[in-house]
Amino acid sequence: MSITPVPRIAVVVVAAGSGTRLAAGMPKAFVGIDEHTMLRHALTGVLAAPQAQVVIVAPAGREGDALTDALAAAGERRDLVSVVTGGESRQASVAAGLEALWGDVEIVLVHDAARALTPSAVFERVIAAIDEGHPGAIPVLPVTDTIKRVEGALIVAAVDRSELSAAQTPQGFRREVLERAHGEHDPAGPDVTDDAGLVERLGVTVVVVPGHEDAFKVTRPLDLLLAETVLARREAAGAQ
Ligand code: CTP
Ligand code: MG
Repeated sequence: MSITPVPRIAVVVVAAGSGTRLAAGMPKAFVGIDEHTMLRHALTGVLAAPQAQVVIVAPAGREGDALTDALAAAGERRDLVSVVTGGESRQASVAAGLEALWGDVEIVLVHDAARALTPSAVFERVIAAIDEGHPGAIPVLPVTDTIKRVEGALIVAAVDRSELSAAQTPQGFRREVLERAHGEHDPAGPDVTDDAGLVERLGVTVVVVPGHEDAFKVTRPLDLLLAETVLARREAAGAQ
């Protein structure tokens, strides 16, 4: 019999993408940073955060590999983790994860496995904002590039960078809000690349909390080099 109380928080870790831009010859979540995969690192961060049900959304055919990583990261908390099969789009993968939530879960965080080095403090900030009564909260960082609005080869407007923020994950919501956002979204409609985008369409306000530079998304080959460096830096700091 398990003595683990049923958590009120769940984290859906979406790991079902193919990683086209990384082009590593395998689904991105299973690419190694050091001796461990991106998914394993992401789960280590998730499991260091407050206790939660953890649903991993894996590519079809890679469910067993995802479970191996999950059990290794979870240790004694293996009762908290499960694996489901993802879909064609990120939204479809999130929706598949929502189907697997336990009945008592009230707060859902959706996290990209590709943000493999996200510190647990970011999870804590998102959860704290929801606990303060906000229906949705996402981590953001200021935009550092100068941004232009272009049409074809022409710059049509300068964009005031101070008004912009780059969205990260984990993105947290009251469960009923996120389920309604996914339920009402037309999958044939315009692509929405994050969950806050779906929730905003309901007219629900989403607040921002500080993100973290280590929570960058591994998208292209250079990002993988950065991830290796961040891990090496952490290891050196830990060894001191
Ligand atoms: N994702 C998913 N299911 C999909 C597409 C994406 O679970 N059908 C997940 C990815 O695994 C990733 C996160 O959503 O953790 C963010 O997506 P992205 O960085 O775009 O990953 P990929 O779609 O795998 O990469 P690419 O777009 O380069 O193919
Ligand atoms: Mg993608």
